[in-house]
Amino acid sequence: MPVITFANTKGGAGKTTAVLILAGELARQGYRITILDADPQHWISRWHELSGDVPNISVISYVTMASIQQHIEENRAHTDCFIIDLPGARNPLLATALGLSDHVLIPIQGCAMDARGGAQVLELLQYLSEKAKIDIPHSVVLTRVNSLVTTRALLSVKMLLAEKQVHVLGTPIVERSAFRDIFDCGGTLYSMDPHRVSNLDKAQENARQFADEMMRYVPLRMGARRRAA
Ligand SMILES: Nc1ncnc2c1ncn2[C@@H]1O[C@H](COP(=O)(O)OP(=O)(O)OP(=O)(O)O)[C@@H](O)[C@H]1O
Ligand SMILES: [Mg+2]
Repeated sequence: MPVITFANTKGGAGKTTAVLILAGELARQGYRITILDADPQHWISRWHELSGDVPNISVISYVTMASIQQHIEENRAHTDCFIIDLPGARNPLLATALGLSDHVLIPIQGCAMDARGGAQVLELLQYLSEKAKIDIPHSVVLTRVNSLVTTRALLSVKMLLAEKQVHVLGTPIVERSAFRDIFDCGGTLYSMDPHRVSNLDKAQENARQFADEMMRYVPLRMGARRRAA
């Protein structure tokens, strides 16, 4: 069962939001997801407490460098995909989590500061490749993208990434109130009230496209028992 890590050393790039979007969509499709909440601010754990039981999603809090591998080993049997949420700062856990990952996703908002935080992750991935011969597939996902206009800042970030030949997902994560409200309401995009949350259907569609694209890079297999069910 693959491990997908969201990393950007710049705070507020959209990591935790993207973790929840991907986990919520994969869980809806029937995959059993374990989120490793490695952020000392514990946003995912708070969301989980608020939500109560969310089908197919388990959350492990208090993940440390010493415990992360053990958490993965212990939960392997009942997990189809692990998703790691890292803190938005340089942290000793970063290299460990990258080393355990089948794919690293680097969320970047269309601005230079975010791109710099993303570049630190890309440099570390390059270092691991050159010095330790560990090649970890990775992609940038553009976040909080305006659904109506393409800003100049976003265009220049895209150009920079293209120059450096960094793979960028074709599906950006659009700026949507649903993606913010989910942390206040708990639950998933599918338990929210469409009368209260604007453009909920568009947020759901965005989540589906994002998860579908990710599954092309990181194929998932459902547990045998669930497939038979
Ligand atoms: N697609 C989106 N649409 C609307 N709001 C968003 C979106 N993505 C992120 N946000 C908002 O931006 C802020 C930062 O997002 P988030 O917490 O996901 O970033 P982060 O990279 O996990 O931050 P940190 O580095 O502090 O862990 C939050 O207030 C979140 O609600
Ligand atoms: Mg976060």
